[in-house]
Amino acid sequence: MRQPLVVANWKMNMTSPEAKDYCQRLRELLQETPTLAEVVVCPPFTAIETVRNAFLGSDLQVGAQNFYPAPKGAYTGEVSISMLKALDCRYVIVGHSERRLRFGETAETIGEKVKVAIENGITPILCVGETMSERSLGMTEKVIGQQLLTCLKHLQPEQLPQVVVAYEPLWAIGSGRSATAKDAAQLAKYARQRLQRLMNGNTEAMRILYGGSVTPENIQEFAAAEGVDGVLVGGASLNADKFAAIARAYGVK
Ligand code: PGA
Repeated sequence: MRQPLVVANWKMNMTSPEAKDYCQRLRELLQETPTLAEVVVCPPFTAIETVRNAFLGSDLQVGAQNFYPAPKGAYTGEVSISMLKALDCRYVIVGHSERRLRFGETAETIGEKVKVAIENGITPILCVGETMSERSLGMTEKVIGQQLLTCLKHLQPEQLPQVVVAYEPLWAIGSGRSATAKDAAQLAKYARQRLQRLMNGNTEAMRILYGGSVTPENIQEFAAAEGVDGVLVGGASLNADKFAAIARAYGVK
């Protein structure tokens, strides 16, 4: 049984004081009506400690949006996995399309990050997704299959359940135009089958999320999608009320 996972990706938003107010509000809302989903907030590095402290004693988790896969050393501006671990991060987003496109991250680096995160006991949330032109050419499954294989190639089959995959079509991110729940379910099914076949891994225990213009208005659709175990939320996660509403769509205790 895979517990639903609802993740906030704040991207480059929220100062530390803003994060504190947000977390207090989110905590209150989810204390009133606790969700059955596991809830994770991934703030910028500068607000991780604030979020961690605000969530102490609750089921809410803090994660990060990125890290550099070397243990330590001369990497000006970078943050290591042990730094995230020391701040109690349980999850880290890896290979978001904004990092691939704006910061030139390659599948090679992303694969390295997945491996290093797992070795350090932090769950990587690996983002994969196709562009609109790849989609119109009918290449979605091929592209996603390739991304999964290159980014997961360092793992042993038994490590697959320790990865979360987030299917985020690039054209759906921040566009207000989400994929359909049917698309997400189809892709999740494809990803499980392909990894099962090629890596012979236990993909039934692996969680697959959908991300891209998820809102309180369309969440019911995704929450009901077969084989889709949760969502990665950008824009709508910046408002605690909206994010709590999204988390509650997975059922309340
Ligand atoms: P969005 O972003 O919800 O604003 O579309 C999702 C993401 O980039 O993870």
